[in-house]
Amino acid sequence: ARKIILDCDPGHDDAVAIILAGGDPAIDLVGITTVGGNQTLPKVTRNALSVLRVARLTEVPVYAGCARPLVRKVEVAEAIHGDSGLDGVDLPEPVTEVGSRHAVDFIIDTIMNNAPNTITLVPTGPLTNIGMAVRKEPAIAERVQEVVLMGGGYHTGNWSAVAEFNIIVDPEAANIVFNEPWPLTMVGLDLTHQALATPAVEDQIGAIGSECSEFVLGLFGFFRKAYQEQQGFENPPVHDPCAVAYLIDPSVVSTRKAPLDVELRGEFTVGMTVADFRAPAPEGCTTQVAVQLDHQRFWDLVVNAIASVESR
Ligand code: BDR
Ligand code: CA
Repeated sequence: ARKIILDCDPGHDDAVAIILAGGDPAIDLVGITTVGGNQTLPKVTRNALSVLRVARLTEVPVYAGCARPLVRKVEVAEAIHGDSGLDGVDLPEPVTEVGSRHAVDFIIDTIMNNAPNTITLVPTGPLTNIGMAVRKEPAIAERVQEVVLMGGGYHTGNWSAVAEFNIIVDPEAANIVFNEPWPLTMVGLDLTHQALATPAVEDQIGAIGSECSEFVLGLFGFFRKAYQEQQGFENPPVHDPCAVAYLIDPSVVSTRKAPLDVELRGEFTVGMTVADFRAPAPEGCTTQVAVQLDHQRFWDLVVNAIASVESR
């Protein structure tokens, strides 16, 4: 199984990413690290622990990371994720505690203490922890297997006309992460706007009939309303598990190689991820973008992971 660290800010879709990563046998979820993003750090950290309880994954350690971006002011996504960060469900009291190490140190120690090329980083929130980790221990850039992140987009934004939330909240950290020599896959809005939780998907989940499936449906109900009211969607895009699905089965997400960078100074474009699609991609290009999602196979992975909770 692929060993991953999920660096997240739960968050409705982050919660589904946790359930998928913890429930699919192709993934070994060695730890969850949290970062301020959709809500404040204390809230998203508590949410991670609550989700682990619902998903019966309480053996997975959780470490809290950075509470604020490297340079800019804290900005949360309350309109999309609510006051708790996971509105729409009754959050169960966590049964485990957050680890005492800082998330940045957990990330560094895990990559340095495992064999080279065996740990994959999956960031699904702002990139503050990952940027901090590679500045504190630059050797992780050569030792990590790859970075597969949810963030950005090459054609569209959601927090500005051209920028996506995870990137625009901490563009300086994103700029660090996008310019390290590690292999990096950007699973951006172009891809995740294909991961819509349609009524047919909800029926598939509802048929499971478990505590976890009801929890996910509760999340989707709130998420649907938020995306209808705030972003003009009929069905909500469930972004973050797409990055996990790519690691479970790369054929579910097609990709294209392209040099990537993050805009830091544009008057209208701060936080934009700039993909250079001029062909051919330069030799040794280490970055790629996710392009096309196999919708049905993606949701089958998620549904199976939700169903697997009952067997734990
Ligand atoms: C990203 O922003 C957050 O609100 C979601 O959890 C996702 O990671 C989508 O732009
Ligand atoms: Ca997220």
